[in-house]
Amino acid sequence: MMGKALVVYCTRAGGTKKIAELIAEGIRIEGGEADVVNVTGVKKEADLDGYDGYLFGSPTYHGEMMQGMKTMLFLAEKANLEGKVGGSFGAFGWSGEALVAYLTPWNISSRWIS
Ligand SMILES: Cc1cc2nc3c(=O)[nH]c(=O)nc-3n(C[C@H](O)[C@H](O)[C@H](O)COP(=O)(O)O)c2cc1C
Repeated sequence: MMGKALVVYCTRAGGTKKIAELIAEGIRIEGGEADVVNVTGVKKEADLDGYDGYLFGSPTYHGEMMQGMKTMLFLAEKANLEGKVGGSFGAFGWSGEALVAYLTPWNISSRWIS
């Protein structure tokens, strides 16, 4: 049985939002539930409560993930996500540091699935 996932994205031009919506659609097609929220909607640890899995997405600008996602990751570190399923995604043009250097290693070091 699939559980419930929270898909959190940030975006400047809309690409990463589209990816977030497609991921959520895939989860629903497979029988799970998924909520999609802009990172600006995650303001406190409690906003991350109540999900079995988490997907965080940021595009790459100037070799970095967007500031909103960095701030949200500090919240996520404090939230009790041990043992949950996690993943990351994001639109990028060429080097994709938000994923390669930041989000994916964060998943692994948090001992989520990779
Ligand atoms: C000013 C600017 C800087 C960018 N810097 C990078 C970069 O360092 N590495 C990269 O892979 N893509 C870079 N891109 C490409 C964006 O990541 C790409 O357009 C992405 O689709 C934007 O996602 P969004 O639509 O969710 O905002 C840059 C784009 C712009 C306009």
